[in-house]
Amino acid sequence: MNKPFGNDVPELAAYVTRVYEPEDDILLEIRERSAQEGLPDIQVAAMDARHLEILVRACAARRAVEIGTLGGYAGVSILRGMGRDGSLDTIEISPKHAEVARESFAKAGLAERARIHVGSAETILPHLASAAPFDFCFIDADKERYPYYLGWAGDHLRSGGVVALDNAFLFGNLVESTRSASGESATAIAAMRRVHALLAQGGRFRATVLPTGEGLAVGVKL
Ligand code: DHB
Ligand code: MG
Repeated sequence: MNKPFGNDVPELAAYVTRVYEPEDDILLEIRERSAQEGLPDIQVAAMDARHLEILVRACAARRAVEIGTLGGYAGVSILRGMGRDGSLDTIEISPKHAEVARESFAKAGLAERARIHVGSAETILPHLASAAPFDFCFIDADKERYPYYLGWAGDHLRSGGVVALDNAFLFGNLVESTRSASGESATAIAAMRRVHALLAQGGRFRATVLPTGEGLAVGVKL
């Protein structure tokens, strides 16, 4: 092991952010309006939004699914990675969050390519199945159900399609040594460990974890 996993030099993060400019005025407005509207400040980091756009571009996706819309920050990035004929089905359990996201897609000029489904993913995903196969799936909702969401992605992505999972480090709670006192539920920890096992060893994906702050797990469907 001659090289570390990840990099925590703050000057490097500042350099990359300065050069790659991951957050333009549209994304900044979404982040600020989401905060004003009282949404939790839990959208993906700006560089993670860029990672999503690039992963979508890399697999030439035209049809994407997102589980957990929040205010539309990641969804706008996913749509930006697709061509003019690309479309996003995004699922959000909170009607209020969905309204904020609706405005975000409109302001980004992407309203006609974003379908927001309000409700629980477990109710909505079965309805999306008839539109499969999809090219890209971003999982960023309740951590306890990540294994179910990954299973759905495995069933409904095309071969060569990509799945990405936010918060793959479970806020430091994935491993014992960095587990925080406030903690995550034992159920969430077990679920996140199960999802890593499924992604890495389940035989349906070739996968890795990008060592971003939150951990971005990425798999290509075999
Ligand atoms: C939480 C959820 C997320 O998806 C995230 O990226 C950060 C925080 C949360 O529920 O606290
Ligand atoms: Mg997240």
